[in-house]
Amino acid sequence: MSKVTVVGVGNVGATCANVMANNGVADEVLLLDIKEGISEGKALDMLQAATCLGVDTKISGCTNDYKQSANSDVVVITSGIPRKPGMSREDLIGVNSSIVKSVVDQLLEYSPNAILVVISNPMDTMTYLSLKDTKLPKNRVIGMGGALDSARFRCYLSKALNANINEINGTVIGGHGDTTMIPLTRFATYKGVPVSQLLDADTLNKVVADTMVGGATLTGMLGTSAWYAPGAACSYLVASILHDQKKVIPCCVYLEGEYGQSDICIGVPCIIGKGGVEKIVDFKLNAEEQALFDQSAAAVRNMNSVLSQLGVLA
Ligand code: LAC
Repeated sequence: MSKVTVVGVGNVGATCANVMANNGVADEVLLLDIKEGISEGKALDMLQAATCLGVDTKISGCTNDYKQSANSDVVVITSGIPRKPGMSREDLIGVNSSIVKSVVDQLLEYSPNAILVVISNPMDTMTYLSLKDTKLPKNRVIGMGGALDSARFRCYLSKALNANINEINGTVIGGHGDTTMIPLTRFATYKGVPVSQLLDADTLNKVVADTMVGGATLTGMLGTSAWYAPGAACSYLVASILHDQKKVIPCCVYLEGEYGQSDICIGVPCIIGKGGVEKIVDFKLNAEEQALFDQSAAAVRNMNSVLSQLGVLA
C-alpha cells in the first residue's frame, strides 16, 4: 500500500492530488489543509469523480489533523500563499517560511520515513529550509520546480517547432525563479535532433525567455499561480518515487560539490526512485552554462540568507 499526503489543497495541491488519484500513482491519497472543510470537500468531490472514471484510489481529506497522515510514503507540501500578478516567487518568503517549517515538523512526527516533495514558493529556499530544519538525509528532500520548468520549456519548443510535444526533450536547471532558471538549449532535442539545428537563434532565445517567465505569464492571465502543469509535474515526480521508475527529472536538491556548488538546494537533473534522489546526474556544462548556473546559485543563496535574518533558520 502506498500513501501520499498533500498538504495545502489550493489549486496546485488539489490538482496534484487529483492527477495522482486518477492515474493510480498511489493507493491512498490524503488531502490536508488548515482551512476547515476544504480538504474534506475536495476529497469527496474527487471520490465521486472516481466512480465515473473507474478509479480505485482511496481518497480522503482532513482539516489539519496530521495524525491521519501517519505512515505516508511521500508528502507533498504546497502550503503557503501563491503569488499574485506582479509578485515574484521570492516575495512570498516571509509568510511561507514559517508555514512550511511548521508543516514539515508536523508531517515528520507521524511519517518519520517519508520523502518530502516541496512545491511552496520560493521553492528553492523552501526546500533548503525543509532540509535544514528536519535534518533529513538529502535524498529525502526534493523541490519540485525543474520538472515543471522543463515541461514549460518543452511546450514552448513544441510550439516553435510545430511539433508533437512528447517528441521533444528539454531540461531546465538552476533556480525556480523568473531570472534564475536555465533552459539548456544545447541539450534540447526533437526526436534526437538538436533543436539548435531546427530553430534560428532568435526563435530559440524567445523560447528561453518565454520559459523563464512561464509561471509569471500564467499568473498574469489567471490572476493567481498556475495549477494544471504544476500539479501534473508533481504527480510525475511522485510516480517516479513510488513506482521506482528511476526517471531522470530535474529537481531542486542539496548539492555537495556537484556542478561546482555546495550547501544549496537548486535544480539539477536527478535519478528519482524509491530512495528519493538516488543520484545527481552531474554532467559537464560549458563555460557559458556554468556561469549562468553560478549566477543562479548566487541568487538562490542570497534568498536563503533571508531565512536566518527572519530567524526561521538558526
Ligand atoms: C509556477 C509556480 C507553481 O511556476 O511556481 O507556476
